[in-house]
Amino acid sequence: MARQKFIAGNWKMYKTTAEAVAFAQAFSGIYGGGPHEVAVCAPYTQLAALKDAFAGTSVKVGAQNMHFENEGAYTGEISPVMLTEIGVDYVVIGHSERRQYFAETDETVNKKLKAAFAHGVAPIVCVGEVLEQRDAGNHFDVVKTQTEGALYGLPPADAARLVIAYEPVWAIGTGRTATGDQAEEMCAFIRGVVRALYDEAAADSVRIQYGGSVKPANATEILTKDNIDGALVGGASLVPEDFKAIVEF
Ligand code: PGA
Repeated sequence: MARQKFIAGNWKMYKTTAEAVAFAQAFSGIYGGGPHEVAVCAPYTQLAALKDAFAGTSVKVGAQNMHFENEGAYTGEISPVMLTEIGVDYVVIGHSERRQYFAETDETVNKKLKAAFAHGVAPIVCVGEVLEQRDAGNHFDVVKTQTEGALYGLPPADAARLVIAYEPVWAIGTGRTATGDQAEEMCAFIRGVVRALYDEAAADSVRIQYGGSVKPANATEILTKDNIDGALVGGASLVPEDFKAIVEF
């Protein structure tokens, strides 16, 4: 089965709402659609404005995190119900910056993943090793544990429509990208983890992105690999021309 490639921007904590709308207008002016799926994952306060600004285009909108409960005494948190109310399509779950700075664990990632599916917000779940783990040769074990933890108890139908982003932490925002072969090797490995947990059909349909210093200059090398079904793009997704070049790799 042919998997549609999926390129998602991750804006992190950048852009005001005015800047986000300006991006959407500029991007829509230079990008008229294409064969690949495209999304922009923005800060919460920009999401409603972006849904409006991208209305009538094929560009989807994602959040970068959410709580797993529908509501409750969780000051400062945003629930899946609040995201679906404004039509958010995707949610990034378990980004390494959330694991590092906001105490995200494999267990909370798993709860959020299930909540996202329960509410019809499509999750992009992030996994990836830090540099010491790669240098020690533990990167496959680390990514296997994160993937199994994220997917624990997830029904096969949900696993099949999942998006997993492999983001080696040493390649995020560093300009030090994984080579196409390193990225392909790990994405193929993750597909094997899904195959072992479920079956061939789930492994065939799960989409696995690479993320970490994806730029116009390296997009083609990465995005043409067999097991790499897209990219999660940080810095380069902030600039309409750069993001256009990547989604049109
Ligand atoms: P980067 O970030 O493209 O700026 O390296 C990727 C990410 O954190 O998703």
